Amino acid sequence: SGSGRLIVVSNRVMRPGATQAGGLAQAVLCLLQHRGGSWMGWSGDISNDDAVAASQDGPIRYVTWDLSRQDYDAYYAEYANRTLWPLLHGRTDLMAFERAALQGYLRVNERFAERIAREAGPDDIVWIHDYHLIPLASLLRARGLRNRIGFFLHTPLPAPRTLVTLPQHRAMLGLLSACDLIGLQTSNDARAMQNYLIGELDAVEESDGLRLPGGEFTRVRVFPIGIDPPALAEMARSAENAPETQQLRSSLGRSNLLIGVDRLDYSKGLPQRLRAFRHLLGNNPQLSGKATFLQVTPESRREVSEYRQLSREVQRLVGDINGHHAAPAWTPVRYVNRGYPHGVLAGFYRLARVCLVTPLRDGMNLVAKEFLACQNGLDPGVLVLSEFAGAAEELGDVALIVNPFDTEGCSRAMARALGMPLEERSERWRAGMQVLERGNIRAWCAQFLDTLALPPPAAAIPD
Ligand code: G6P
Repeated sequence: SGSGRLIVVSNRVMRPGATQAGGLAQAVLCLLQHRGGSWMGWSGDISNDDAVAASQDGPIRYVTWDLSRQDYDAYYAEYANRTLWPLLHGRTDLMAFERAALQGYLRVNERFAERIAREAGPDDIVWIHDYHLIPLASLLRARGLRNRIGFFLHTPLPAPRTLVTLPQHRAMLGLLSACDLIGLQTSNDARAMQNYLIGELDAVEESDGLRLPGGEFTRVRVFPIGIDPPALAEMARSAENAPETQQLRSSLGRSNLLIGVDRLDYSKGLPQRLRAFRHLLGNNPQLSGKATFLQVTPESRREVSEYRQLSREVQRLVGDINGHHAAPAWTPVRYVNRGYPHGVLAGFYRLARVCLVTPLRDGMNLVAKEFLACQNGLDPGVLVLSEFAGAAEELGDVALIVNPFDTEGCSRAMARALGMPLEERSERWRAGMQVLERGNIRAWCAQFLDTLALPPPAAAIPD
């Protein structure tokens, strides 16, 4: 894919062994460990220090910087996470908009552009990730960069009639046309992008992409993000005897484990999931003492009030379920507000009979894929998966697919998963592993970069 180096840019940058991160950082770390390159973005620290820190860690060159408190608030907490995040997840009821926050978002993107322009050689490939950095490609073009620039959106993209509720949406989303390639997780997301660019920005289809009235040519394509299945399987095998796994195993006694692992986020459908589990216990008294639900939920984005409110709602539900259903020697729901290193989670996944991935809306959801990869093939667990997770597009025949708003339907799927015979579990799991192998993280990366390397069509001859 070209001779240049790869420069990956994302808001959050992650070092190996970090205990908490979304799917994005996990996937980028994995791809850079295989492919090598620079990873540029926010250090995760807040300070008034303007300095850029560069360091080499194996094949990865890290280039990071701090954000000031003011920038963090306007760019990250406000515009990225109180305007764009709810919009992208179809929650316009939660969307806030402040012009000052938009200014801060643009200002921080400008700072990113300045630093990337300094780092990038003429042949380097720039790969921008996620909704924090929508204007970045266009700001790089304004600085004269002619490099191949790709953008991948890790979140879902709603249909145009939802996108247009964003104030100044054309001026913002139109900036993506500065990219040579726009990648999305699912065919629905890609269709939304195409329809938006055609319907709102007068793009026209030309050869295999879209031509904007300003002359830019961009390709819109689907690249469902993947994982590294053998690496996870190996992690899970060696975690089997780790102290954390052993403690969990012995604490369960003869109870089956259901597991959920999500950042505390309203897109994840945690209250709905808990209500379904409550329904399950209420309707299946024989499960008393026989099913334990471990929900691992690191808190996230506490500066946004919706997240604090959700935190209280989930705590109340957990307390309610445990109060009503617990026995002296059994707690139905274990709710843990912290993150674990991948190596520890892998052991938990392997121990679980059922994994609950029931978001109301999710770009991909890598927990679904990681859970499968961590199973013992001789006695695999079952995935219960929301039809509104991007992963459902690939795992429709592997998981029990549910609508997270249907409490009774979810509760039945949990019961079915707990009682599923070995033969059916094995068959589904094997099908799942084939999907994961075919679309692994290296294939994802290679397909994106190969498409990004395609030259634009020869310019049309003006009439
Ligand atoms: C999602 C987003 C990522 C983000 C992650 C964690 O996966 O797509 O861009 O990094 O959530 O959220 P945080 O706000 O902690 O970075």
